[in-house]
Amino acid sequence: MKIGILISGSGSNMIKLIESCQNSKNAFIEIVISNNPDAKGIEYAKLKNIKTKVIDHKEFSEREDFDNKVHEVLLENNVDFLCNAGFMRIHGEKFVEKWFNKHLNIHPSLLPSFKGLNTHERAIKSGVKFAGCTVHLVRSGVDEGPIIGQAITSIDINDDKISLAKKVLKLEHKLYPKCLKLFTDKLVKVKNNKITFSDKAIEVLNDFKV
Ligand code: GRF
Repeated sequence: MKIGILISGSGSNMIKLIESCQNSKNAFIEIVISNNPDAKGIEYAKLKNIKTKVIDHKEFSEREDFDNKVHEVLLENNVDFLCNAGFMRIHGEKFVEKWFNKHLNIHPSLLPSFKGLNTHERAIKSGVKFAGCTVHLVRSGVDEGPIIGQAITSIDINDDKISLAKKVLKLEHKLYPKCLKLFTDKLVKVKNNKITFSDKAIEVLNDFKV
């Protein structure tokens, strides 16, 4: 399976996906695309000899034109499956349709709670006792879509948004590669919005030594 990764920033989740695919016989990271020319993740991908491409969204007056360029580059590189990893642009409906059920995103909250930005600050302010991250299939609604996996941590009395972000990011780095593996190793079946997890898939997801 040829994988494309979309980033906008440091790409710490991208790094974990790259590392997890290095020894996989079913998955190959084909290209990393960033909408941000200054994304640090681009440098890392280059160091790992992975093809990179900057498609600066500021150069496109219409969202759909940007989406079409991204889609064109993905097709040119024979990408089969897409992972958003710290990608901060919203995809248009047509793009989502083209990658329907072949497109994952990771979000730093226990969806459906705390969609959108500043999730850790909002979670602390709301008084909830747990936080975490979610990997889901991408749909046109922001941070919506069938959930593949989640990881959870407590919000401790002395946690602030920085300390909580650190804890959750560590979980993201463990969760995302597992969720991708479910697709590259064909351990889940997806039909429309219904996901069927094989026994092996449950084993992979539960093998969660944080
Ligand atoms: C992560 O919390 C991710 O969930 C969110 O952006 C943050 C940075 O991601 N989308 P990365 O380090 O760029 O992978």
